[in-house]
Amino acid sequence: MFMKKNLLNKSILIAPSVLAADFGRLNEEISGIELYADMLHLDVMDYHFVPNLTFGAPLIRCIKTKLPMDCHLMVENPEQYLQELAEIGVASVTIHFEADKHFHRTLTRIKELGMKACVALNPATSVEVIRDVLPILDMVLVMSVNPGFGGQKFIDLALGKIRQLKQLRPELLVQVDGGINAETAKLCREAGADVLVAGSYIFKAKNKQEAIESLRK
Ligand code: DX5
Ligand code: ZN
Repeated sequence: MFMKKNLLNKSILIAPSVLAADFGRLNEEISGIELYADMLHLDVMDYHFVPNLTFGAPLIRCIKTKLPMDCHLMVENPEQYLQELAEIGVASVTIHFEADKHFHRTLTRIKELGMKACVALNPATSVEVIRDVLPILDMVLVMSVNPGFGGQKFIDLALGKIRQLKQLRPELLVQVDGGINAETAKLCREAGADVLVAGSYIFKAKNKQEAIESLRK
């Protein structure tokens, strides 16, 4: 996916989040967006780090897609998920700064397993806490909602964080997740975001292609 940005020279990458899809027809839902999207965002939740539960490796293994799979781990002890995700062929893994005491060790492990390493920051977490690990990161995920649920309102604290990260390390990919629609997408693009994650806006849309394209404009 990181190559794809350069090859296609796209100014923004779109990552639909399957959290808003109909899980009973998941592969069908994914095939409906596959041609228009750049990555597939998979929200793994464990009822501990966030007050919601979704899916883990057994379901991810059943997903049929050519899109690079990006796993957003909203879980405690993320390291226990990594080996299996690597075996499945997941392209990148995002761990939450707030969820992991052994943060540097987990990031190193993700990279050793051949996946791209990304850190997510909750709305109340400042960029300062990841300053030391920025050189080893492939991407940072700025949360624009408190994690756990789709369909929430965009929190604009995210915009300052996007700008700050792009100033600190311009080549680092910055991803934004939560409350993304055509209006908030524009604000994020103007702030310098590289990847937009959107769940409800894409999967609840009548025309998913149009919804995706409206996030790029
Ligand atoms: C929330 C998840 C998001 C979620 C976004 O914790 O990390 O990826 O799917 O959903 P929307 O786009 O509906 O805000
Ligand atoms: Zn997410």
